[in-house]
Amino acid sequence: MSLFIKKSINQLLLDAAESEKSLKRTLSASSLVALGIGAIIGAGLFVRTASAAAQHAGPAVTIGFIVASIGCALAGLCYAELSSSIPIAGSAYTYSYATMGELVAWIIGWDLILEYAVGAATVGIAWTEYLNNLLVTVVGVKPIPFELSHSPFETSLDGLRTGFINLPALFIVTMLTLLLIKGTQESALVNGIIVVVKVSIVILIIVIGWGFINPANHTPYIPAASTYTDTQGVTYDYGGIMGILGAAGVVFFAFIGFDAVSTTAQEAKNPKRDMPIGILGSLVICTILYVLFGHVLTGVATVEDFRTTGKEASVAFAINKYMIGYTWLGQAVTVAILFGFSSVILVMLLGQSRVFYAMSADGLMPKMFSDLHPKYKTPYKANLMILVLVGLFAAFVPGDIVGDMTSIGTLFAFMLVCAAVIILRKTNPDLPRQFKTPWVPFVPIAGIIVCGAMIYGLGWINWLRLFIWLLIGLIIYFVYSKKHSKLQKGILVDPKDPPAPKIEE
Ligand code: ALA
Repeated sequence: MSLFIKKSINQLLLDAAESEKSLKRTLSASSLVALGIGAIIGAGLFVRTASAAAQHAGPAVTIGFIVASIGCALAGLCYAELSSSIPIAGSAYTYSYATMGELVAWIIGWDLILEYAVGAATVGIAWTEYLNNLLVTVVGVKPIPFELSHSPFETSLDGLRTGFINLPALFIVTMLTLLLIKGTQESALVNGIIVVVKVSIVILIIVIGWGFINPANHTPYIPAASTYTDTQGVTYDYGGIMGILGAAGVVFFAFIGFDAVSTTAQEAKNPKRDMPIGILGSLVICTILYVLFGHVLTGVATVEDFRTTGKEASVAFAINKYMIGYTWLGQAVTVAILFGFSSVILVMLLGQSRVFYAMSADGLMPKMFSDLHPKYKTPYKANLMILVLVGLFAAFVPGDIVGDMTSIGTLFAFMLVCAAVIILRKTNPDLPRQFKTPWVPFVPIAGIIVCGAMIYGLGWINWLRLFIWLLIGLIIYFVYSKKHSKLQKGILVDPKDPPAPKIEE
């Protein structure tokens, strides 16, 4: 039994044709772009931007956005080639099964849990912050008690209270799991409405906030290199190049999601054409908005705000404190964000269930994860299992920690996707590719370098977390997955390597 046993591409395409019978093809190019933006704009922008400014780079968080977007664009070009040539569910996991073999595929699949499940938990935690803000500034009542809206590892600014469980985060991920079980098409419609609201709010903040920028807050734009120790005792590299790389690693979270589009390839009407449009289109739109938004946010409020009272619900805080006369905007933002975050969580949960679905269909995960609901045709058992996982992170781990874990896990997956493009060009040069990554191997190699630099910027504690996570995954692989792998048992290997079925245009 080989650790590097590979699925043939033809087998993958046959699998796709087979499972097409079960998953419904309902998503068009525009719904994919909407799905992408739905997944992209969220807690990364409305929560992590302020953290990155406070902990790493001050106003130069905008440069961090640019670095992160370059890494995403390079990896996105690689994703687009893979998703247009292997248009089936499972994202980076599926691509690596065909290119780098089962062990690497498993590692990526396991790693993607950090991106989707832990990412969904991060946004759920951010949702709690804005829910509390809604209660105080819009409804005019008291916030949910600190103990019931924070993890046990957090203490209040005055040091008097310690969290116990984050109930609102648990609530929102549960509701969205139930919505997902009902079906992708309905979810995509809800998502479309939310995307419009979310983009409008970001544009409003940029346009109105521009007039409230205080140039003193932007001076110096790139702070000198130093260190910063937060109230929980964690020390960060602040300012200089390391500060910018650290900020890039943190706000990289804000771009996660464009690749989630590729996990729904089996539900796209025309995956070969629409996947690249969905992935790159949503990425370009978001990059422009982010840089402008970061510039405005760090110009309106100070870094000190984001380290203290403006640490939570930072955007609403900045508007309420500095943009006098725009209370309505602060309130509208809070409401919009609550809906906006929901769409992000939805797409992440969707991505996670599709990855589990693909891994389970291959025997690497228990079979129940690929059982489809008899009526709704969704992998409902996978959804419920994911709810348990996401719920645990959302309820009991602080947002900064799950956010950075999401970033580092995804960056690692992106590096492997870039490598997969180079390998696939060598091993399967004749595979029809509707979209080809330009300048191979330069683009994939540059992608690996830029994503690697961001991992470097995230610091040793996050490297350690990634390492431990991967170690747990390896143990599960050797104890369970390798023994149950259908490919290892020879179930999927067709000696005649049948010709690829034609994918409908
Ligand atoms: N990009 C998504 C967000 O910022 C994950 O919430």
